[in-house]
Amino acid sequence: MAGKIPQPFIDDLLVRVDIVELVDSYVPLKKSGSSYVARCPFHTEKTPSFAVTRNKQLYHCFGCGAGGNAITFLMEYSHLGFVEAVEDLADFAGVQVPRESGSAPTKKNNAAEVFQLLEQAASFYVEQLRDNASAKEAVDYFKSRGLSGEVAREFQLGYALDSWDALSKRFNAQQLIDAGLAIANDSGSVYDRFRGRVIFPIRDRRGRVLGFGGRVLDDSLPKYLNSPETSVFHKGREVYGLYELLSKNAKPARIIVVEGYMDVIALAQFGLGYSVATLGTATSKDHLELLFRFSTELVLCFDGDKAGRQASWRAVEAAFPCLRDGRQIKIMQLPAGVDPDTLVREQGLEDFELRISSAQTLSDYFFERLSQGLNLNDMEGRASLINKAKTYLQKLPNGIFQDLMQDKLKTLSNVEKLDFFKKPTTLKALSHKQKQADKKLSPIRIVISLLLQNPDFIEIIEQKKIKWAMINLAGADLLKQVVEIITQHPNINQSQLVEHFRGQETEKYINIMMNHDFLISDGLREEFSGAIDILIQEGKNSRFNELNTKQKVSDLSTNERQEMLSLMSPK
Ligand code: GTP
Ligand code: MN
Repeated sequence: MAGKIPQPFIDDLLVRVDIVELVDSYVPLKKSGSSYVARCPFHTEKTPSFAVTRNKQLYHCFGCGAGGNAITFLMEYSHLGFVEAVEDLADFAGVQVPRESGSAPTKKNNAAEVFQLLEQAASFYVEQLRDNASAKEAVDYFKSRGLSGEVAREFQLGYALDSWDALSKRFNAQQLIDAGLAIANDSGSVYDRFRGRVIFPIRDRRGRVLGFGGRVLDDSLPKYLNSPETSVFHKGREVYGLYELLSKNAKPARIIVVEGYMDVIALAQFGLGYSVATLGTATSKDHLELLFRFSTELVLCFDGDKAGRQASWRAVEAAFPCLRDGRQIKIMQLPAGVDPDTLVREQGLEDFELRISSAQTLSDYFFERLSQGLNLNDMEGRASLINKAKTYLQKLPNGIFQDLMQDKLKTLSNVEKLDFFKKPTTLKALSHKQKQADKKLSPIRIVISLLLQNPDFIEIIEQKKIKWAMINLAGADLLKQVVEIITQHPNINQSQLVEHFRGQETEKYINIMMNHDFLISDGLREEFSGAIDILIQEGKNSRFNELNTKQKVSDLSTNERQEMLSLMSPK
């Protein structure tokens, strides 16, 4: 049962990994002065304002303000939850994530229970296919479709008996419902969702069963039934066959995206082990981002019918924001009426791979499709092409690919001057702007920023013996919190420090202040010390004013009078 990830492990992990190496493996970085820069992966820009600094172990974009530590980067870049990001970071560092023993939060427990039940159900379906006399029909069905025993084992294929309660009489009803395996009817009785169907378990990239697909053995309807969305299964983010693919090759040169379970399995049986299928849903940006984590080339291979052609176009539309330099999407058109399953069986692997290698590039496909029905010999046709293309090209991340697509549109439309993309602002100009803003910083912001950037300045604060109660300025609570964290964690570094603010309201400000570039690089200690003195003085002034106002309407206590006197004397 998965417990909480211990905080010391997270702190240690943040020291162990180098954020420059991590980010570089996703977004190639270039050294520039003391930091590493790239065009920001979180917004569209023409020149780099995204910077990663090794000594801070943080990233920051001067353009859009995105920023954080290695964990934040993975959460934002790969659309992961906190725990998943920590797990990925641990993978990157080559270490195991430990879990605290004892009772985990109930929600975690629930997910762990759901996973366990799904695993048990998957084994149960496999056993039924193998051992149950009533499963003969299913065995015959798989045979009739030419499946080998080997590939059936690889994909853990199973059979759900034609029974209302094969699972329901064995497992906890509520858990079955949570896992999407059973349904409660109006009168409250619970029955199995999958009945009389061959079963395809759907696993995530780590091999955990998330849900199932089930196919009828004849031509009754619906042909396929999939698990519903559950707390662990999200169709828009998972694909079928990824675990099986990665078990064979963790870094495939390309991944083929097909429509059906049977397509993935047939291709695997014929020796093409690098295909996955979407789960009866449209291909989403999340699907593509997931797949691009494992390969730089995706080939869309949908059926040759009208629905398949539409699915290709929709997938291409979803792909535009994902197409950073170095990533490629190709479109492989199949003849009408065949799917990859039938094609590979009829024509063989070699023919199939030949088709892959002659798949159309996204740019050819895109402009061909957009130009359909337009006459590019007349002005209206060309203008219409530019209009249609514009919105798509603007969705592309900045890069050479975007430039090339724009060039191609210029050639096709015969219009020399097209520039859809915002004029660049340089990193230098941006940081200059920020430095101007520096001058207007309040002392408390200076203190917090400098302390965040130089946790060892804590000793200056300790020497000053600050009376926190007196400093009731805006931001004082945040300063106090930073001081407490640093006091409790001597030698804390910056990326660990921001980690302590994750999920808090102040997280954003902490990131901004952490990345504030100060004009001066010498004399920071003096600057810091001076700003604290101002804070203390401001605190005294405001307390004095408070007492002074009070004195006008009521008498002060002896203590208050003494306090006022001491506030009047210097130091
Ligand atoms: P076979 O007939 O077994 O070869 O199926 P196929 O994989 O060729 O199926 P098809 O091209 O008809 O559908 C592709 C995918 O869409 C399937 O693998 C399912 O994921 C999904 N799908 C097909 N039919 C249904 C259906 O009736 N309901 C649901 N929910 N999904 C379906
Ligand atoms: Mn088929």
